[in-house]
Amino acid sequence: MGADGMFITFEGPDGCGKTTQARLLVRFLKERGASVVHTFEPGATGLGRELRRLLLEPGRHLSPVAELLLLAADRAQHVDEVIRPALKQGAVVVCERYVDSSIAYQGGGLGLAEEDIRRVNDVATGGLSPDLTILLDLDPAGSFRKGAVQDRIEGRGLEFQRRVWEAYRRLALDEPARFVSVKVEGRGVDAVQADIRRIVMDRLAKRGMVL
Ligand SMILES: Nc1ncnc2c1ncn2[C@@H]1O[C@H](COP(=O)(O)OP(=O)(O)O)[C@@H](O)[C@H]1O
Ligand SMILES: [Mg+2]
Repeated sequence: MGADGMFITFEGPDGCGKTTQARLLVRFLKERGASVVHTFEPGATGLGRELRRLLLEPGRHLSPVAELLLLAADRAQHVDEVIRPALKQGAVVVCERYVDSSIAYQGGGLGLAEEDIRRVNDVATGGLSPDLTILLDLDPAGSFRKGAVQDRIEGRGLEFQRRVWEAYRRLALDEPARFVSVKVEGRGVDAVQADIRRIVMDRLAKRGMVL
């Protein structure tokens, strides 16, 4: 549970619109007077920026476990330095990617055991779980970023991205109280954002945070 504030994460494959939708949601919540922190993984802290470079530089060989642990180190620093302090002050934290990304990418994608990933991430986060996770439902073949320059993880190809996507879907089915899937395929940015705002406002109201 996200201490006092509310912890919202965005998940989904590369190029599904996480950054676009998170930005619009943050602007909307701020306009309504909420205290909001917009953040992302990997790379939102000083340490994280260096880890992100190591993780995403094309051409570098990292073992799957090394990749898992570097992402977990980034997450540990991020939780300690950014997420927990913001929640403690009652803020809404909007974060692009979190533990579910590790289960989807290093688990579904690379084949590491989910149990190991969860254990490592429990240590990294001290057990901090999102209050709400918005999964942007877009088949990886429909990625909006097709043709763009790819980083080391994006460059793993469509088969990899499909396994990631299947893992995401299973996670959402396993935890229906935390996950909300929002359909993106064939829909404009504004229509997707309208769904997200409705979902978030409803959850905030249920927590007694009326904006
Ligand atoms: N619903 C949408 N329809 C069309 N293009 C979109 C939509 N959502 C996002 N985009 C565009 O797709 C690209 C990738 O979006 P982005 O938010 O960066 O995805 P992510 O952060 O998930 O990788 C951006 O150029 C963005 O403007
Ligand atoms: Mg992004």
